[in-house]
This record gives sequence, C-alpha cells and structure tokens, in this order.
Amino acid sequence: MKVVFLGPPGAGKGTQAVRISEHFNVPHISTGDIFRKNIKGKTPLGLKVQSYLDQGLLVPDDVTIEILLSRLTEADCQERGYLLDGFPRTLAQAEAVDGKIELDAVINVDVPEEKLLPRLTGRRVCKDCGATYHVSTLQGEACEKCGGPLIQRDDDKEATVLNRLKVYRELTQPLEDFYAEKGLLHTVDGALAIDEVQQAIVDILKGFQ
Ligand code: AP5
Ligand code: ZN
Repeated sequence: MKVVFLGPPGAGKGTQAVRISEHFNVPHISTGDIFRKNIKGKTPLGLKVQSYLDQGLLVPDDVTIEILLSRLTEADCQERGYLLDGFPRTLAQAEAVDGKIELDAVINVDVPEEKLLPRLTGRRVCKDCGATYHVSTLQGEACEKCGGPLIQRDDDKEATVLNRLKVYRELTQPLEDFYAEKGLLHTVDGALAIDEVQQAIVDILKGFQ
C-alpha cells in the first residue's frame, strides 16, 4: 500500500498514520519525525534543518526530497509500501517524485482552521517514544505507552503555529488540486473523533491491500 497523508498542521495526520500503519502493517514515514530525530541527535542533517523547524518554515525541497527518496529504498518500504506523513508539502516536491514513486491514494485530512491552533498548542508528545497526546484528554503526567515524560514540541508555541498554518495555506494546500486532477484525492472529515476518522480512512484504504 502506497499512500500520502495530506492536511494542515494539527489535522491528525500523525495520529492517524500511526494507527493505519499498525492496522495494515505498512511503514509510517514522517519527514517531520526524521528531522526531529536528527535535531535531537545533533547530526549534520539535524544542524542543517533546526532553524527551519524552529521558525515553522519548510526545510528546502532538495534536502527533503533526498532524505525521503533515500528512506524509501530501505527494505521495509520495498516490501510493504509506505504511508507518507508530511511529504510532499510543496508542488516542487510532488513534481520531483511524480513518476518516481507510485501512489494508490492521497488521504486529505480536512479540519476547519479554527480547530487547529488549540489542537497544536495543547499537544504533548512523549520524549522517549514519540506518542502523541492532547492536554484535554490526558490521564496522567506520563506517557501511557512507556511511562516517559511528556513535553511540548518547540514548534507548537502559538507564534510558530500561526506561521506553520500560513506556510500550509500558501505552499501545501495547492497539492489538493494536484492530486485531485490525478484522481487520487480522498478527503476525510478530520474534525470527527479519532476512532471515526480512523474508520473512514480504513474504509478507503482496504481496497488497496
Ligand atoms: P511535521 O512534523 O510534519 O508537522 P505538521 O505537518 O505541522 O503536522 P503536525 O505533526 O503538527 O500535525 P498532525 O497532522 O500530525 O497532527 P497530530 O496527529 O499530531 O513537520 C514539522 C516541520 O518539519 C515542518 O514545519 C517543517 O519545518 C519540517 N518538514 C516536515 N516535512 C517537510 C517537508 N516535506 N518539506 C519541508 N519541510 C518539512 O494531532 C495534533 C493534536 O490533535 C494532537 O494533540 C492530537 O492528540 C490531537 N488530535 C488528533 N486527531 C484528533 C481528532 N480527530 N480530534 C481531536 N483531537 C485530535
Ligand atoms: Zn512514550
């Protein structure tokens, strides 16, 4: 199964990609996670991209495309396909991989803009395993999966979120038309409860198993 998850920051792409990856046993590839892991490890890539993430700006296309294409050559993707979460994010990225990578479907997670800011400023992530939570539904102070500490992502501060939303509108939203013209776009209502959004996506993707 070869799928792209499209949608604004906070739409729930990561939340759903984790669940769908488990459901269909397909690798979840998040360019944001790859960048954050490299920043945490202070690798050359991490040092190169840190200032972009801190400001809510996109990492340059050439860097991102190279990282993504190289990840897709690994055995798990070759054998089982991929769920791309956060890539492509510009027309240049989509055009650069068009014809190089196959796609069965693009899942567009649609959420009204006014819901996104509170979702992002209230998001907490586990420092150890990366699991995602929201303050409104948190049961305790530690990760429910591994007991690790919960932290706020640096780019989830309000000013940075507003910048990310602007970047999304200007650079990423045009991809909806790009993929609709190819007959690949499936839009789901991402304002529904997490389980309901998951069911809607499973219903679309089960045809591609
Ligand atoms: P990335 O990590 O991809 O961030 P993003 O696209 O901004 O997406 P988010 O992770 O913020 O949101 P999400 O849709 O995954 O929401 P989530 O499931 O967590 O990118 C970060 C940065 O990396 C970029 O700014 C850029 O600098 C760089 N980058 C990455 N890819 C790049 C690329 N291709 N090119 C260039 N630069 C790139 O959910 C959010 C919150 O809502 C959580 O608290 C969750 O619990 C809650 N929630 C989820 N679903 C629901 C629901 N149905 N109802 C209620 N609450 C919900
Ligand atoms: Zn954890």
